[in-house]
Amino acid sequence: MSAISNTLSPALQRLITQMPKAELHIHIEGSLEPELIFELAKRNQVNLPFDDVASLKNAYAFKDLQSFLDIYYAGASVLLKEEDFYDMAYAYLQKAVGDGVVYAEIFFDPQTHTERGIPIQTVIQGLVRATQDGATYLGIESKLIMCFLRHLSQDSALETLKAAEPYLEHLIGVGLDSSEVGHPPEKFTDVFARARKLGLKAVAHAGEEGPPAYIWSVLDQLKVLRIDHGVQAIHDQSLIARLAKERIPLTVCPLSNLKLCVYDDLSLHPIKRLLDLGLCVTINSDDPAYFGGYINDNYLHTFQALQLKASDAIAFAKCSFEASFMQESQKNLWYAKIEQHALAHGF
Ligand code: ADE
Ligand code: ZN
Repeated sequence: MSAISNTLSPALQRLITQMPKAELHIHIEGSLEPELIFELAKRNQVNLPFDDVASLKNAYAFKDLQSFLDIYYAGASVLLKEEDFYDMAYAYLQKAVGDGVVYAEIFFDPQTHTERGIPIQTVIQGLVRATQDGATYLGIESKLIMCFLRHLSQDSALETLKAAEPYLEHLIGVGLDSSEVGHPPEKFTDVFARARKLGLKAVAHAGEEGPPAYIWSVLDQLKVLRIDHGVQAIHDQSLIARLAKERIPLTVCPLSNLKLCVYDDLSLHPIKRLLDLGLCVTINSDDPAYFGGYINDNYLHTFQALQLKASDAIAFAKCSFEASFMQESQKNLWYAKIEQHALAHGF
């Protein structure tokens, strides 16, 4: 993302950038930087429809979610071997640690790879090894959420869940992503029921571009514990009341919404209104390699555009732990650390 015209005080910037935080909405395939795409293409002898990094970056001008997904799936085509998945995930974890992320719940899209003939074992083993090394060498804890692609059938999702069963111990949950409009969530009721029965937590993308009805549907049919994006809830007062009353978190991704033209300008983003309406709202990066920034860029651009305050930064960071699937006792420790961090920075 281009440099921000910056009116945030240095103290507020330090508070934000060094604050301990959790990231709960990051597609690991969306962290694949153009340079790594070309490196992996060379290593795996994959032909890309772009001559070089610069021409690939030039294609990162999206008009909506689908125009992004077309490029995103093309980028993922360079991932063939376990070490490719490892390298991608370890690179993300290094960046996240630099942004103060101490805990991450990471999405991956197995069908994007199994459809190309890559065994699910290759995908999961590479990612698991990266999360283990992230904990050992970087001090970041991370968990995996397996997403089903909603433009594919429920049968394909069921097949994917079955194939993942030997690796259940490595998964914390399941999610639903890809093209939203025209793919209502109800289609996936059975596979989500099965996943929940296996002990997996359920989350789903809803209300990114799609209507509030999709958010009702993921709550009532898929029985999710958290909504990914969910910004369209702002148009439905009774939905807002329910999300606030039940403290169902939203994992919001401001730069993604800007890049995919959900909002023409970040100053129009409803994130602060949602927070003030009593929702548990978090800030995340979605697909940072494509949308111009990692989690701190998302915080800083949002704070600049909406002229937010230290109290908002503290609230978003606390919500990120509240919304996570970590133990309650561990959450309490992080709330206390956030308070200490704020005090140490004079807030
Ligand atoms: N897959 C990767 N990024 C996504 C997004 N923003 N919405 C839906 N599916 C996605
Ligand atoms: Zn997403």
